[in-house]
Amino acid sequence: MASKPIFLLLPLLFLSFKLQRSSSQTWIKAGYWDSSTNLPISGINSALFTHLFCAFAFINSTSYQLQINSSNEQPFSNFTNILKLKNPSITTLLSILVGKSESTNFSLMINQTSNRKSFIESSVKTARLYGFHGLDLCGVVPKNSTNMTSLGAFLDEWRAEVASESRNSGKTQLLLTMSAQSMPIVNSVSYPIDSTKKNLDWVNIIAYDYYVPTVDSFTGVHAALYGPLSRTNTDDVIKEWLQRGFSADKLVLGLPYHGFAWTLVKSGDNDIGSRASGPAFTIDGSMGFKSIKSFIQNYGYGVESVYNSTYVVNFCKIGSIWINFDDVEAIKAKVSYAKAKGLLGYSAFQLSNDDNWVLSKAEKSY
Ligand SMILES: *[C@@H]1O[C@H](CO)[C@@H](O)[C@H](O)[C@H]1NC(C)=O
Ligand SMILES: *[C@@H]1O[C@H](CO)[C@@H](O)[C@H](O)[C@H]1NC(C)=O
Ligand SMILES: *[C@@H]1O[C@H](CO)[C@@H](O)[C@H](O)[C@H]1NC(C)=O
Ligand SMILES: *[C@@H]1O[C@H](CO)[C@@H](O)[C@H](O)[C@H]1NC(C)=O
Ligand SMILES: *[C@@H]1O[C@H](CO)[C@@H](O)[C@H](O)[C@H]1NC(C)=O
Ligand SMILES: *[C@@H]1O[C@H](CO)[C@@H](O)[C@H](O)[C@H]1NC(C)=O
Ligand SMILES: *[C@@H]1O[C@H](CO)[C@@H](O)[C@H](O)[C@H]1NC(C)=O
Ligand SMILES: *[C@@H]1O[C@H](CO)[C@@H](O)[C@H](O)[C@H]1NC(C)=O
Repeated sequence: MASKPIFLLLPLLFLSFKLQRSSSQTWIKAGYWDSSTNLPISGINSALFTHLFCAFAFINSTSYQLQINSSNEQPFSNFTNILKLKNPSITTLLSILVGKSESTNFSLMINQTSNRKSFIESSVKTARLYGFHGLDLCGVVPKNSTNMTSLGAFLDEWRAEVASESRNSGKTQLLLTMSAQSMPIVNSVSYPIDSTKKNLDWVNIIAYDYYVPTVDSFTGVHAALYGPLSRTNTDDVIKEWLQRGFSADKLVLGLPYHGFAWTLVKSGDNDIGSRASGPAFTIDGSMGFKSIKSFIQNYGYGVESVYNSTYVVNFCKIGSIWINFDDVEAIKAKVSYAKAKGLLGYSAFQLSNDDNWVLSKAEKSY
């Protein structure tokens, strides 16, 4: 996964939006920094954000405590202070990876009271020790092998510990967030919606990677805001969360700073749903925004990306390679959407894929 995918309205509207919000919640402009990329913390333009996630910590499979790789201890401990140099009011959260290969550890952790206690206490201690303002669980997926009732209990206990620690220390409560799989319910298994709403400050919706070349043998739009009929798209995802009783003002829209490249079976094809033989360029076809732009620029005459406002996505075709990704127009349209729907904000994944901060500045340039 070369580019690590894993996994904006008018000034007047913005003003009215701000007035509607209670003073405790501001419009969230968040992003993930992934320690495995080559972007140094000092290279992050933190002034463009209100919240930044430091990724990733993990769950130790024997102790069930939160753990940070030794190579990450120094950068993680400096994360908040370095970001404060460019933005003294930045809020930082430590993100814990539970998705993909770590999910068994997570299922076992939430399955037992004593394991939950180990994780919860160590997570709060670590967050304070390293100077983070909050904690984030990244990639929890609703599935039968993860007990969703236990997840609900875990979230109750996590919030209780954070509240109690705040009373004892006199410090502001740590923020608690989760980055959730796009749909709140998958194969009849649902996140514990009530507990999630009650205990978390917000949920980041992973509103991308809907169609990927390693799984889908046809070209698909991986992060369309509006989709072709019966295809997964972000508008349907958000509607589903709201229908399930989740509040709009606790939803943060995930923005992908990457796209996917497919190899077409027939080089003459150009449409969504064309037969594809697999990924192009990288092992999983994922490409960071910066790489896509550089590829298009360097390829030469005749290659351009086209913005499609029906789906809110950029397309680019080069011979038998078909790429879809979010360029500045798509990001702007999604931020506008988030505001119009009364969502809490947006969250970019991940920062090293931006190209000289053009995506992160997209809202400002409105
Ligand atoms: C998990 O924790 C145990 C006990 O604290 C420790 O011995 C082990 O090295 C840790 N595992 C990893 C992968 O760091
Ligand atoms: C921690 O380090 C190990 C080995 O160095 C690596 O396999 C693992 O992916 C790392 N985990 C995280 C969350 O960075
Ligand atoms: C990072 O923190 C260490 C101590 O934990 C300190 O020695 C070092 O100077 C810090 N680096 C930066 C760039 O702030
Ligand atoms: C569980 O966590 C350990 C590190 O403690 C990691 O090496 C292992 O891959 C994880 N197992 C699963 C199945 O996720
Ligand atoms: C949860 O723990 C019980 C024992 O307390 C065990 O029987 C069960 O297999 C565990 N479930 C999972 C998903 O680990
Ligand atoms: C998972 O659990 C749900 C609800 O209990 C059930 O309807 C569904 O059939 C289960 N799926 C599998 C694959 O067992
Ligand atoms: C899930 O957890 C709840 C309580 O934690 C328990 O009552 C229930 O039996 C568990 N379900 C499964 C399928 O393990
Ligand atoms: C977007 O692409 C679809 C499918 O190719 C097409 O039907 C639609 O007209 C395009 N929208 C715009 C605004 O070009």
